[in-house]
Amino acid sequence: MPLPDGFLQELKLRNDITEVASSYVNLKRRGRNMVGLCPFHGEKTPSFNIYTENGSFYCFGCGVGGDVITFIMKIENLDYIDAVKFLAQRAGLNMPEDSFDDSMSALRKRIYEANREAARFFYSQLYTPKGAKGLSYFRSRALAERTIRHFGLGYADPERYSLVNHLKSLGFKNNEIVQANLAYQNKNGNISDRFYDRVMFPIIDLRGNVIAFGGRILTDAKPKYLNTSDTPVFKKSANLFSLNNAKNTGSRTLILCEGYMDVIALNQAGFQNAVATLGTALTQEQALLMKRYADEVIICYDSDEAGQKATARAIGFLRNAGLLIRVINIPEGKDPDEFLRNKGEQGYNAFKNVIESSGNDIEYRIAKIKGSYNLESAEGRVSYLNEVVKILATLDNSIEQDVYISKISKELGVSPDAIKQQLNKANRKNYRDKRRSNFRDMQSKLNGRNDKINTERYKKPRVTTAEEGVIAFMIKNPDKLSLIQNSLDEERFQTDFNKKLYSYFSERIKNGDDILSSVSGDFTPDETAKIYQIVNSDFAKMANENTLKENINVINDEYLKLKTADASSASYDDIAERLKKLRENHQ
Ligand code: UTP
Ligand code: MN
Repeated sequence: MPLPDGFLQELKLRNDITEVASSYVNLKRRGRNMVGLCPFHGEKTPSFNIYTENGSFYCFGCGVGGDVITFIMKIENLDYIDAVKFLAQRAGLNMPEDSFDDSMSALRKRIYEANREAARFFYSQLYTPKGAKGLSYFRSRALAERTIRHFGLGYADPERYSLVNHLKSLGFKNNEIVQANLAYQNKNGNISDRFYDRVMFPIIDLRGNVIAFGGRILTDAKPKYLNTSDTPVFKKSANLFSLNNAKNTGSRTLILCEGYMDVIALNQAGFQNAVATLGTALTQEQALLMKRYADEVIICYDSDEAGQKATARAIGFLRNAGLLIRVINIPEGKDPDEFLRNKGEQGYNAFKNVIESSGNDIEYRIAKIKGSYNLESAEGRVSYLNEVVKILATLDNSIEQDVYISKISKELGVSPDAIKQQLNKANRKNYRDKRRSNFRDMQSKLNGRNDKINTERYKKPRVTTAEEGVIAFMIKNPDKLSLIQNSLDEERFQTDFNKKLYSYFSERIKNGDDILSSVSGDFTPDETAKIYQIVNSDFAKMANENTLKENINVINDEYLKLKTADASSASYDDIAERLKKLRENHQ
């Protein structure tokens, strides 16, 4: 059973989309709408729009769109029912009883509970004889009691059933424990602990839920860390370790580290704004997540080759997300944890100095390539300069470019004008490439190849657009349904997706339902985005009875063309109608 219409309308009324989105996106008014930098893809000029008149959003850059429920689904990584619950709670509304399928949401709740109990169990084990090994490991890594408590660290003993038995005694079902990825299930259906003989690091989301664990082995055995795989409550590419702590510092700067231990050591030394990815390389999604809490990110990866590769990759995503970047080079020791341990009491000040002496991402990249050229030789200097120019050409700020030009010109004894000339060449090439790719984008938009939802658009562009015009009209003017129905037979819709929309919206209008309130629940997120693209298109804004008539004519015309293309199978009536149309057009 779907959620009652009245409830959804109330929910949306009490959760104004502008207000809700404002806590994630910086919005500016533009005419009747609000615009901002899209939180769902990296961009420098705003293409994320909020349409206040119908409570929806659409991004022209990445094609994400929908209503306030869709927005919460996307930004909080929730499914439909949990997004509704989130908004109901925000507005102080009670969920209607028993009218919706809650099984997935109920399972997720059990997983959160199982994780919380597991974290408690692992922590309490530290202070038992079985767990003493874990505690002494943490002590050997210079962690204080209060740090262990703050992060809720723990220990999973070597027996294979300790956690499973504990969770079962608390009433958890095998299925719940397995779905939480806390246990493996073998062929005969028995389950055993996934984590054993490891020190445990709980991963906590922004709402304070334990969503996953990382477990470190105490020896040199492999794998060093075992992490929770993705579960119904955990997506590793969309979360960051310790962001729950870091978001509260109020500093708008985050320190991005490679490992759990680095983050914990930094916290202990007084840097609460440290975060780390969860056993994978940084993703664009994580960069955008950071952008919500920070303006600047300090990359603090290992100084080994893998760390440097990861730095280069992270710079791209962080820049894309519009973040300022600094790159730390840890002078002694491989990672921040080792550095801080070596410094002992002086850790805070020493690391502060390291941060202060760090350069931004451009300085880092220039320094990096500098190492690989012999600047004593003229050839070396030319090649170095060419590489620098390539980097500078990626900056779209000419003031920023100028700053580096004067630096490099002094460094190499080359005139700034000569560098500028090189740069202009590179800038022009970038501009040409960009224009070419914009043109390609536009072309594929026009020929419909990039329409992933209505995949028939490509074959039938004319009728698809006309169908969308009719749909846009009916959504805007539900009271005019009979006007449409009198001159258009549903069977004449040629694309399946639009035919589905037409019958869906006709049905809602006939039932007297609010036309858009269930879209985000009745369609997939991608389909929802497509529907809101239609609803908010310029085309829809112009929709009136005249454009409706034109669109219906196109649909009828295309239908008859299709029918009469094969004259032998066409009905007499179809041919007669087509001939009449042709005559009319010739008058
Ligand atoms: P590191 O190997 O740098 O470990 O991996 P670390 O964090 O410094 O840990 P210690 O100091 O040796 O105890 C960095 C991060 O990569 C992921 C973990 O998230 C780890 O914190 N990782 C590493 C894994 O997921 N699995 C592994 O086997 C190794
Ligand atoms: Mn380490």
